[in-house]
Amino acid sequence: MRIDKMLANLGFGSRKEVKKLLKDGAVKVNDVVIKDAKQHVNPESDTVTLNGEVIEYKEFIYLMMNKPPGVISATEDQYDQTVIDLLQVEDMVYEPFPVGRLDKDTEGLLLITNDGQLAHRLLSPKKHVPKTYFAVIDQEVTEDDVLAFEKGVILDDGYETKPGILKILKSGIHSDIELTITEGKFHQVKRMFEAVGKRVVYLKRISMGPLELDESLELGEYRELTDEEIELLINNQ
Ligand code: URA
Repeated sequence: MRIDKMLANLGFGSRKEVKKLLKDGAVKVNDVVIKDAKQHVNPESDTVTLNGEVIEYKEFIYLMMNKPPGVISATEDQYDQTVIDLLQVEDMVYEPFPVGRLDKDTEGLLLITNDGQLAHRLLSPKKHVPKTYFAVIDQEVTEDDVLAFEKGVILDDGYETKPGILKILKSGIHSDIELTITEGKFHQVKRMFEAVGKRVVYLKRISMGPLELDESLELGEYRELTDEEIELLINNQ
């Protein structure tokens, strides 16, 4: 990869600004000052420094966010803040995008990456990646609902869902539940409850495949996945 492209990709300035850094002798590759913007470097094996600081280059970035309500799971939106707007500039330069969508009012686990292949596999209906949600329901959830979800329910558009595993955590005038589904139809959890005459009043995703929400993340906070989490995700395909 060209040195000017690498530095620009990493957010050290536009190609023009990077050219100036090079001209000023601020960049070294393997301890040798490089002034030619066209110089090729191997980000894996060459040591690149800028003003004496080693630059780390990685192709992919994997972030786990605890999505807050009121924010859109998209890269751009005309009216609302997006999850990408919540990232630090040094993470934005990788041009990551959210893997799948959570509704504007849904909270919880959102994977944000620029690894298109991984995203594609996680979202592929053929892979049946399980997603678990915690929800508060506006009324009593019963064993009948557990059985109905186990069989699959008919949504408002006539679609019959695949089986879902419903666990009642607390039943009462408001119920706390956990639901695991292997599909990702639009508003699926809300519509599954509508199919049994109930309403979701709070929704939070707590896991996706092998990835579990890090509960130490406040709403709107995010962190990079650990190497172990990345390995689990990639090997789980
Ligand atoms: N199901 C929903 O209804 N909403 C979400 O955000 C995710 C799953």
